[in-house]
Amino acid sequence: MAAKVARHPPAKKPVLVLNGPNLNMLGKRQPEIYGRETLADVEKACRGEALRLGLAVEFAQSNHEGVLVDLIQVAREKNAGIVINAGAYTHTSVALLDALNAAELPTVEVHLSNIYKRERFRHHSYISPAAIGVIAGLGTQGYLLALQALARLLVR
Ligand code: DQA
Repeated sequence: MAAKVARHPPAKKPVLVLNGPNLNMLGKRQPEIYGRETLADVEKACRGEALRLGLAVEFAQSNHEGVLVDLIQVAREKNAGIVINAGAYTHTSVALLDALNAAELPTVEVHLSNIYKRERFRHHSYISPAAIGVIAGLGTQGYLLALQALARLLVR
């Protein structure tokens, strides 16, 4: 029997690049720690990298934990993977861990700063158990490396 050939390739779901609280302040916020690039600069760089990798991407940022949970719940159906910088919720949020576990999507956790070089309360991440990998301390390049890791899983 001849193999069935799809008339249209399945629509490629985008990777969600999700940023949490205070990341909308990038560029202005403690530039000695987080650098001078803005979140718009990060988005532009990610779009360029995604194009190069053959990935579709979309971006969201919220300062509100429940909104981030809602976005992750929607992502379960809508997105192929997640790159998340959960900001301070990284160190506090069981709700984000539960949402990421429920989403069952390949997820890369990103931090601009090296959280292990900073205060002790930043050394623990609630969300890492839901991530395939964690990138910390490489600045905005971390987001691009996260996209590269997801592209290896998602792009064929
Ligand atoms: C951060 C590190 C967190 O500890 C902090 O609360 C942030 C940003 C980072 O990208 O380095 O808001 O996630």
